[in-house]
Amino acid sequence: MKFFLDTASLQEIREGVAWGIVDGVTTNPSLVAKEGVDFHSRIKEICELVPDVSAEVTATNYEGMIQEGRILAKLHNHVTVKIPLISEGIKACKTLSQERIKVNVTLCFSVSQALLAAKAGATYVSPFVGRLDDISEDGMELVANIFQVYRNYGYKTQILAASLRHPQHVVQAALIGADVATMPFKVMEMLFKHPLTDIGLKKFLEDWENSKKNTKR
Ligand code: E4P
Repeated sequence: MKFFLDTASLQEIREGVAWGIVDGVTTNPSLVAKEGVDFHSRIKEICELVPDVSAEVTATNYEGMIQEGRILAKLHNHVTVKIPLISEGIKACKTLSQERIKVNVTLCFSVSQALLAAKAGATYVSPFVGRLDDISEDGMELVANIFQVYRNYGYKTQILAASLRHPQHVVQAALIGADVATMPFKVMEMLFKHPLTDIGLKKFLEDWENSKKNTKR
């Protein structure tokens, strides 16, 4: 399973990369806006840190999306162009994919939408788990159903489980077989945590210190 960080913060990305477990980064207009930096410069900076960076178009018509998508793809060969799952987006996905530009079709909330992304040759489809859970639907069921449908037909589009809010989302996506989990930095940090690890380590170190004191020279 690939782990992506869902952030535009260089500090968070550098820290995650130092852990040796980050395979890529997803951004969206909200995340970049939060940083208050130039969009293209920030994408280029992130591309220097990780091999796969989703950068989203803001146009909502076909012409605008392919124009923005081509510009983003030229910024760095680590860029994946992120396109929203609307009819114009699916059309743009088909064109950009035929130009061998990697596309992440985002804002996917149904299996029918995921089928469209696969048919248009998307590299990734991003089902938004947390946002479905927020409206009392089952986000993880969507990931499982997309997995089944893609397997039925051998679609190559990778499932990028997005809008993950806690470690159990990551675990459930892994059990289903999602190709990628993208998560905020704080969720990646939580993956490490277990109270028994901390208690066990404390005891090991105490016993070690005591044994040194008690060992006869
Ligand atoms: C993914 O590409 C999106 O940027 C992200 O996962 C959205 O997460 P949110 O629903 O927590 O904003």
